[in-house]
Parts: sequence; C-alpha cells; structure tokens
Amino acid sequence: MEVSFLGSYFRSFPPKDKPEFVFVGRSNVGKSSLINMVTGREVARVSKEPGRTRAVNYFLLEKKVYLVDVPGYGFAKVSKRERDRWRSMMDHYFRQRKDNIAKVFLLIDGVVGVQKLDRVMIRWLRYERIPFVVVLTKSDKATQSEVSRVLKGVRECAGSVNVILSSAKEGRGRKDIIKILFSLEE
Ligand code: GTP
Ligand code: MG
Repeated sequence: MEVSFLGSYFRSFPPKDKPEFVFVGRSNVGKSSLINMVTGREVARVSKEPGRTRAVNYFLLEKKVYLVDVPGYGFAKVSKRERDRWRSMMDHYFRQRKDNIAKVFLLIDGVVGVQKLDRVMIRWLRYERIPFVVVLTKSDKATQSEVSRVLKGVRECAGSVNVILSSAKEGRGRKDIIKILFSLEE
C-alpha cells in the first residue's frame, strides 16, 4: 500500500480534501503499531515507553485517506502540565477537524480492558456524535476469557458499537480496518 508521512501538526492541519481516520486511546495501547500494521510499513514511531507520540501526525494512504496518529491519554507518570497540554492539543484537534473525521478508531487494550478514561472518551464521542469503532488491541496476548471480559466491558459502556479484534503482531484485524478506510469510495 502506498503510504507517506505528511508531517506533525500542532495548530494548523492539512487541507480537508480527504476524509481522515484517527486512532485514539490510552498511551501504549498500540495506536502507532496498528497504523504500521494496517499500512504494512513502519511509518509511525512505536515505543515500549508510553508517551512516544507527541504531536498530531498525519499519514496519507493510497492518496485517498488521511490516517491520524495522536498522543495517548492516561499515562500515570505525566505531570499535570503534560496532561493539560494533551487536553488542549486534542480539544483543538477535534474542534478543527470534527467535520472531516470519517471515523475514530478507539483502541482498547485487549488484556487490560476498558479504563476510566476510555469511558470518558466513549461518552464524549457519543455526545459529540462522532462515529467510532472500538478496536481491541494486543489480542495475541489475551486469552479467550480475557477477550470476553473486555468485550463485556465495552458493551456495557458503548452498546452495540462495532468491535474489531486486532493484533499488530499477528496482523489480525487488518482486513476489517482496511474495509472501513475505503468504504466511503464511490
Ligand atoms: P503512545 O504513542 O505512547 O500513545 O503509544 P501507542 O498507543 O502509539 O503504542 P505503540 O504503538 O507505541 O505500542 C506500545 C507498545 O505495545 C510497544 O512496545 C508495541 O510493540 C506494543 N504493541 C503494540 N501493539 C501490539 C500487539 O498487537 N501485540 C503485542 N504483543 N504488542 C503490541
Ligand atoms: Mg504512538
């Protein structure tokens, strides 16, 4: 697949000439890894340390859609100042781009499950009527019973939302995600 890194953005963003898909979730949940898995290239930076992605990073896929990698939330070790920075960056991003977002991929760790800030995010997305699907990540590390427990937690919070089981390590979920990315094509 043809993919290129467009740049890191803070205040202004690329033209709204293509629909964008944004990968949102807790720090370390696997957002950047999932973008790499879907595109088949190591375009996004991955790290064992939470807090790797620091800006709003845009990738252009097949000259048709934008993939957007954003910093994660919920990393315990960050200062209040950092949390405030994250908040204002994301507030700004969503305010500016809401009308251009085709879908949010909300990533939830397939082992850890739905956390407090994930609930906040789900509630907010529903309130703002921003379309989203849930992606359970790291399914290679989760047992069947962990997956069912996490799935139950997602259902309790997000109702009948579409849920994709994924593993960046094993390539699981790739086809489902690609289908969503290109489903808007005429
Ligand atoms: P921030 O940019 O800090 O918000 O993190 P992120 O959500 O982009 O996570 P990232 O993709 O950097 O991955 C975090 C860690 O999880 C890395 O060590 C990855 O190798 C690992 N990881 C990501 N996806 C998977 C997966 O599907 N399976 C396994 N086993 N590990 C994964
Ligand atoms: Mg990242």
